[in-house]
Amino acid sequence: MVMISESGLSPAMLAEPDRPAGHRRTRVGVVGAGYWGPKVIRNFAALPQAELTMVCDLVAARLDPVAAQYPGVRVTTSFAELLASEVEAVAIATPLTTHYALVKQALQAGKHVLVEKPLAATTRQGAEIVALAEESDRVLMVGHTFLFEPAVEALGALVRRGELGEIRHITAQRLNLGPVRHDASALWDLAPHDIAIRLDVLGCAPEAVRAQGAAYLQSGVHDVVQMELWFPGNRLAHVHLSWLDPVKVRRMTVVGSQKMAVYDDLAADKLVLYDRGVVLSATRDGHPELLYRLGEPQPVALPRADEPLRRQCAYFLDCVQRHIRPAPDGRLGLQVVRILERADHSLHKGGRYESLGWGTDTDPAVREVMATTWWHWRSAASAQLETVPEAAS
Ligand SMILES: NC(=O)c1ccc[n+]([C@@H]2O[C@H](COP(=O)([O-])OP(=O)(O)OC[C@H]3O[C@@H](n4cnc5c(N)ncnc54)[C@H](O)[C@@H]3O)[C@@H](O)[C@H]2O)c1
Repeated sequence: MVMISESGLSPAMLAEPDRPAGHRRTRVGVVGAGYWGPKVIRNFAALPQAELTMVCDLVAARLDPVAAQYPGVRVTTSFAELLASEVEAVAIATPLTTHYALVKQALQAGKHVLVEKPLAATTRQGAEIVALAEESDRVLMVGHTFLFEPAVEALGALVRRGELGEIRHITAQRLNLGPVRHDASALWDLAPHDIAIRLDVLGCAPEAVRAQGAAYLQSGVHDVVQMELWFPGNRLAHVHLSWLDPVKVRRMTVVGSQKMAVYDDLAADKLVLYDRGVVLSATRDGHPELLYRLGEPQPVALPRADEPLRRQCAYFLDCVQRHIRPAPDGRLGLQVVRILERADHSLHKGGRYESLGWGTDTDPAVREVMATTWWHWRSAASAQLETVPEAAS
């Protein structure tokens, strides 16, 4: 069993909710009580550093179960009422097309914001709200929940420590039967998770993207997508996304020059390291010979932790209370949106390559925000954390 130092994982690990009694609680309002909102509500309601004060949804019937379960929480169908209240931080769990307007209004009202992925429906909108959050000195965090999954944090730590050697290829499948959306394709709905994990694990942005897919259920809304990302150093990443598949799969394979790792979110051992590879060596008579290394799979021991969404909510509050910029901040969210937008373009242009290089953003507002990238900050934070010695294996 491979052991990873708990304190060497990521900034998210610093946010376990064991703060001293009497610490100030942040007043939180949640917007959206559809599928995901109730999970966000449950987690904020359970956190000692949060005071869940208000929940808002346009549909009054969605608020009835909230009012029944949390009698001390005010419910409203008016977002303006929530913004005018004493709520300090707003968690937004509404459909993608509403994110820009709701986040902008919340920031303008002086609230800190946790918005569900993806940050916004266009790069232009995303850049505007990232700039607004920074100008108004408010915390803006995007709910890339898988970055709070211990197996993903451990995978990132293994890669950053060079345990796998040079990373060559990453492939992933995110498949299931539904839930089918109407306002966002399988690309916009599912790919944010895989893109965020790759940005985090590799610590750099891709140079190019292409995507191909098909829309079977609704015209123009792709149900099945194959996306390809090229990272610097000839590192290729593939993602297969579908909500039209009989079997749920959440799997990522990282192939390095020394070792390989498989992260399977549905397996008992979520992260397994393989000391496996192929080496091409020249023999005496000049003919090449392939040498296979076939080490036993080694499950990676993961720290016991709360559910990723609970840790995400706790980390957001930690950033609000300590007034620090989150690691999965608006800039990470914006980079994800930028990649999604170009991938979507490729999808509608028959799978042509779209460059993501510097200078390809023609919009000055986007260029300005992209000039400082999130991962410079993240790498510095990670390097600091990962100087902690690892546990014995
Ligand atoms: N992090 C994750 O793993 C994860 C998982 C699922 C969904 N999500 C994200 O959560 C968000 C919501 O997804 P969902 O599946 O819950 O959608 P949903 O359609 O089930 O629920 C959205 C709710 O928002 C309400 N709403 C819409 N506009 C509103 C407005 N202007 N003011 C107040 N309420 C409004 C709707 O009435 C509805 O109840 C999406 O961004 C989605 O990508 C994230």
